[in-house]
Amino acid sequence: MGRRIAVEQVTIAWIAITASFILSGARLILTNEKQRRLADDILKAEQALLRSEHMFSTAFRLSPDAVGISAIPGGEFLEVNDSFTRLTGYTHDETLGRTPLEMNLWKDPGRRTEVMAKLQKESEVRDEEFVCVTKSGESRIAQFSGTLIELDGKRCALVIVRDITTRKQAEEALRASEERFRTLVRDFHVGVILHGPNAEIQFANQAAQQMFGISLEEAKGKNSSQLDLISVREDGTEIPFSMRPGPRAIEMRESIQNEVIGWRCKGSNEVLWTLGNALPQFAADGSVSAVINTFTNITERKQAEEALHQLSTRLLQLQDEERRRLGRELHDSLAQSVLAVNLNLAQATRSLTSLDERSRHSLAEARRVLAEMSREIRTLSYLLHPPLLDELGLVSAVKEYAEGFSERSGIKLELDVQAGFGRLSQEAETALFRIVQESLANIQRHSGAQTAKIQLRGDSTCVNLEISDRGRGMGKEAVEPGNGSATRLGVGILGMRERIPQLGGKLEIKSSSSGTTVWVCLPLKSEVSNAGSHSHSR
Ligand SMILES: Nc1ncnc2c1ncn2[C@@H]1O[C@H](COP(=O)(O)OP(=O)(O)O)[C@@H](O)[C@H]1O
Ligand SMILES: [Mg+2]
Repeated sequence: MGRRIAVEQVTIAWIAITASFILSGARLILTNEKQRRLADDILKAEQALLRSEHMFSTAFRLSPDAVGISAIPGGEFLEVNDSFTRLTGYTHDETLGRTPLEMNLWKDPGRRTEVMAKLQKESEVRDEEFVCVTKSGESRIAQFSGTLIELDGKRCALVIVRDITTRKQAEEALRASEERFRTLVRDFHVGVILHGPNAEIQFANQAAQQMFGISLEEAKGKNSSQLDLISVREDGTEIPFSMRPGPRAIEMRESIQNEVIGWRCKGSNEVLWTLGNALPQFAADGSVSAVINTFTNITERKQAEEALHQLSTRLLQLQDEERRRLGRELHDSLAQSVLAVNLNLAQATRSLTSLDERSRHSLAEARRVLAEMSREIRTLSYLLHPPLLDELGLVSAVKEYAEGFSERSGIKLELDVQAGFGRLSQEAETALFRIVQESLANIQRHSGAQTAKIQLRGDSTCVNLEISDRGRGMGKEAVEPGNGSATRLGVGILGMRERIPQLGGKLEIKSSSSGTTVWVCLPLKSEVSNAGSHSHSR
């Protein structure tokens, strides 16, 4: 019994020992695992620290900005990067251990005091602008950022200095240039209007506001159709909104240049004439982002042109009237008088029987000169104004004139007149006859041609006259109207160009080295009548 108890006790003890052994073993395992984890964590933390230190030092080294660490509050530099030495011009050795004040890095030391006080107070400052003076004495505009850090238990400042001189200069240049352009646009005597992509007005300068009698406030956001302005072409027809330069430039995506446009307020007859330009601006995606419209006031110029036009019309009319009057005068009185004198002389010669030979010869000579005079007067009269023009009309006058011309000049003329060509208004007949006359004179004087052709055709709507030669042709300046060299021309072609538009017609001169053609087209108006019914004063 005692033995059994002893065995039981041993077993219990054994179990207890075994359990405690197992437990302590387990505790040992568990403790080891904890330690291992701890060690792992420390290792990881160390690695992370290393990594971040490495990252920091790389960033420090490679930063394009000047970076430095300085002691607080003394300000001695403990470390600076290469960008710092580049910016300031001081080497590492010249920098470390010295303060910005000793190095005169801040142009305004008071500004530094201010920024450093802020840094101490707020622990961090950003983008504080200051002027940094380099070793060579050059001033650079810079931005200062800093934060307080602790290094080896000491309070320090990590500072970053960014050189913004170039950016500042570029900004300043841009600002100055914008200012210049703004002033230019504002004070420009040319009206400038900026339209948005939907032709809405975004800006109008002083000149434009005055020109169109609008204020920027009332016009802003509206398009020009909402401004009670009517736009007209030179011929007086209205230009619809979509055909105005701004909307058209948006629609066509191309610029419009020097278009003559008249503007008048609704209910007013006064027209403001402008020379309009529209220049579309494109956004990055290719769409039209804006249109710049410019308007030059040419009202005075138009009025002067109109006055000049009226003057030349009047002059040509007066010239025609004067020629007609002179021509008739010569033909009707002077030629008749000469004829009468000649007849009287003939009569006298016959009745004077006792004339000596010398006197008889003198009288005969006088009669010959008188006959010559009479012929010259008639030619002159008919050059000035052929009587046939008024009496029988253009076709007869041209035929007669062409014959005389061929005789005088030796130039062969082919006359091609449409059968049944009727009579025209006196104005039209005179104008066309003068053009024939002037063209034939030019052919004789300038072309060197031996033959020429006159063609006259017409239908119920218009008359076509064409005078052509196969001569040497004319210079460019004579062909193209209004190219500034008109003063070098004679009045012949200028006169032709003046006459035809007055009658609503067109004149074209084509010329090359193989000849010249003057082509006229006159519309037939209601006053044009058929042959015979044309009334003329005589
Ligand atoms: N048929 C032509 N052939 C060649 N040149 C011509 C002809 N007609 C005109 N021209 C040229 O054009 C110029 C202008 O002509 P115009 O105005 O009639 O002035 P003008 O005859 O007084 O010189 C002439 O000087 C001449 O050089
Ligand atoms: Mg001429």
